[in-house]
Amino acid sequence: MRPGCWKMLAVAVCMVLLAGLQAQDLQGHVSVILLGATGDLAKKYLWQGLFQLYLDEVGKGYSFSFHGAALTSTKQGQEFVAKVLESLSCPEDVAPERCAELRGRFQQRSQYRRLRTSEDYMALSKDIEAQLQHEGLREAGRIFYFSVPPFAYADIARSINSSCRPGPGAWLRVVLEKPFGHDRLSAQQLATELRSFFQEEEMYRVDHYLGKQAVAQILPFRDQNRKALDGLWNRHHVERVEIIMKETVDAEGRTGFYEEYGVIRDVLQNHLTEILTLVAMELPYNVSSSEAVLRHKLQAFQALRGLHKDSAVLGQYQAYSGQVRREQQKPDSFHSLTPTFAGILVHMDNLRWEGVPFILMSGKALDERVGYVRILFRNQAYCAQTETRWVADQSQCLPRQIVFYIGHGELGSPAVLVSRNLFRPFLPSGSWKEVEDRPGLRLFGRPLSDFYAYSPVREQDAYSVLISHIFHGRKDSFITTENLLASWAFWTPLLDSLAHEAPRLYPGGAENGHLLDFEFTGTQLRFSQQQPEQLVPGPGSAPSPSDFQVLQSKYRDSPLISAWPEELIAKLADDIEATAMRAVRRFGEFHLALSGGSSPVPLFQQLATRHYGFPWAHTHLWLVDERCVPLRDPESNFQGLQAHLLQHIRVPYYNVHPMPVHLHQRLCAEEDQGAQMYASEISALVTNSSFDLVLLGMGTDGHTASLFPQSPAGLEGPQPVVLTRSPSKPHQRMSLSLPLINRARKVAILVMGRMKREITLLVSRVGHEPKKWPISGVLPSSGQLVWYMDYEAFLG
Ligand code: BG6
Repeated sequence: MRPGCWKMLAVAVCMVLLAGLQAQDLQGHVSVILLGATGDLAKKYLWQGLFQLYLDEVGKGYSFSFHGAALTSTKQGQEFVAKVLESLSCPEDVAPERCAELRGRFQQRSQYRRLRTSEDYMALSKDIEAQLQHEGLREAGRIFYFSVPPFAYADIARSINSSCRPGPGAWLRVVLEKPFGHDRLSAQQLATELRSFFQEEEMYRVDHYLGKQAVAQILPFRDQNRKALDGLWNRHHVERVEIIMKETVDAEGRTGFYEEYGVIRDVLQNHLTEILTLVAMELPYNVSSSEAVLRHKLQAFQALRGLHKDSAVLGQYQAYSGQVRREQQKPDSFHSLTPTFAGILVHMDNLRWEGVPFILMSGKALDERVGYVRILFRNQAYCAQTETRWVADQSQCLPRQIVFYIGHGELGSPAVLVSRNLFRPFLPSGSWKEVEDRPGLRLFGRPLSDFYAYSPVREQDAYSVLISHIFHGRKDSFITTENLLASWAFWTPLLDSLAHEAPRLYPGGAENGHLLDFEFTGTQLRFSQQQPEQLVPGPGSAPSPSDFQVLQSKYRDSPLISAWPEELIAKLADDIEATAMRAVRRFGEFHLALSGGSSPVPLFQQLATRHYGFPWAHTHLWLVDERCVPLRDPESNFQGLQAHLLQHIRVPYYNVHPMPVHLHQRLCAEEDQGAQMYASEISALVTNSSFDLVLLGMGTDGHTASLFPQSPAGLEGPQPVVLTRSPSKPHQRMSLSLPLINRARKVAILVMGRMKREITLLVSRVGHEPKKWPISGVLPSSGQLVWYMDYEAFLG
């Protein structure tokens, strides 16, 4: 090379170096402090994520220092961190020597220090400032990654706020790991505490599922395929959405945490709910605006319809209670109610999603590890050609689905799948590539070749993705306080209502068979198999299949059916339906007299889901008793029947027979002869005034229908329907009399809840004493009496 050239080259090199220095100067220095640097998460993911950040950003004019911190002594901590750093890997396309060199540089920028007291934080801040000064660097910002248990948050936050904030002009970002509270209240308390130390924009609450590549692709995919999806992404086309996270591992080793949280708090409240909002939210015009994304997400939360007990099915793998007993030193008699499996049915009350079921499901000890979001479209096509001639990209009769495949499972990697008969999706070719066909591989009922399938060009771990987003201030990949509280507000009422529910036990793995399959009707979810529940498992031993039984025995010499509430109601509804079918077959109609109050409500709700099988068109509905209030009054038994049953089914209106308690604009006046009118109506329509089925309850004082102790009305005598007085308000009542009830072909008495325990015991011992306990006078003269009691009422 000629001397002139050397000179030019030297100048060029100097310029590049200078540009580098200037860039560095421009962008500044970032200090990352990893708190909990010797913990599991740090070891598995966070150090690797930080290394990736370094690789991605150091060439772009930033300089970095990484401070691993923990309570561990300096020596032990240093040894631990050194070991972890040695194991860091580079992306596949980096040659081994280059990787070693880069790792070496990263190691130089990383060190361990013990951080315990606020003085330690002060010293850290001083060291950072000294380094900046020494190296002539401008501070860009500090990231504090809290990989520590939440009880440690407050002290650390206080120390950072008081003595470790960066200088003026530089940003502070604190990264927090779940759990963010246990319910709405505790989440609110934690949030308030954190807000006293940090601004909202300084906090980055991690939900690592938002960093999973397929999840992070949901919004960009919706945005980049707007044209194709605009008409499809709504209730007219989507049949259902499934958001699923199945695991094969169980909770062994972390039952301390798991006992307090359970699967709904651990996975559904956060990971699956976040995914739900990404699918359901209105797409902002500009999806790269964090502010717009977060606002739309919040709106999605507002459209979620409240959940109730029947929106959920719960399970627990059989070995779980034993693991808790061992790990938490619990006595042999201890049985946990914590669910390790949950299926939840969610609905949204907005124009786009009204009526579309969103199924959320997660569980431990299942048959496979897989996560996905599947949007299944309705199919209204009929195909004239035989199925063998259906062509994947043309036939409208093949299933149409879009799947964001989060990972694992048969496919083994993240992917976006779109049925070929939908449209050819656009995915950015720099980051997503088409998956090669794997003959024989079937997903969601179809061969892989039926889908346009894309997977990431470079698979990235969720934490690496999120660490990069933290660095770039992409707040839409994190959980804001508002978002967090909205999610807890949605889940907390359900969690409260399920707190004492016994989950269905399952053996685990492939042996689960169909035990955990569930199905929905309307807004209700239930296990498909009516598996009898476990009654009382033998102490200490893991329950075996023979421990499962529904108790069938006798109570007051009549058949007794006893089960957990859900099963009991289902059984009673089945029995009513069977009785109805028989009656309609034999007599052309079915006369059913129903009680009011709270116990029958779940039964009404259950019957309300039986639109098709139940012979409603031939069913007459009568009231066993009524409160003397207008029929539209919420206290009215008829109103309860209307709200929970009548409005959901199609019964001819002349088959509905409310009690005439409200005549001549007054309530239950003797002179109006309402009771006699009802009796005449019964005798006119019901053969022999003998109802096919009368449903009764039992009060804690032994009353039934509106026949009360120490009040002779209706206990005997010729009047089929009587006016009575109740000790509690509203005092005036109308009721079928005992003689009329006892003419029924069948009487079912439903008794539920712990409150009924005492009266259940008492009544089991008394003879025929209707004056003291009217219920003891229920004895159909030629019909059948069956008791339906839940375990709480029966066993206490
Ligand atoms: C965590 C839960 O948030 O997610 C764990 O606490 C669960 O119980 C884990 O196992 C699943 O995450 P991944 O990334 O392995 O699917």
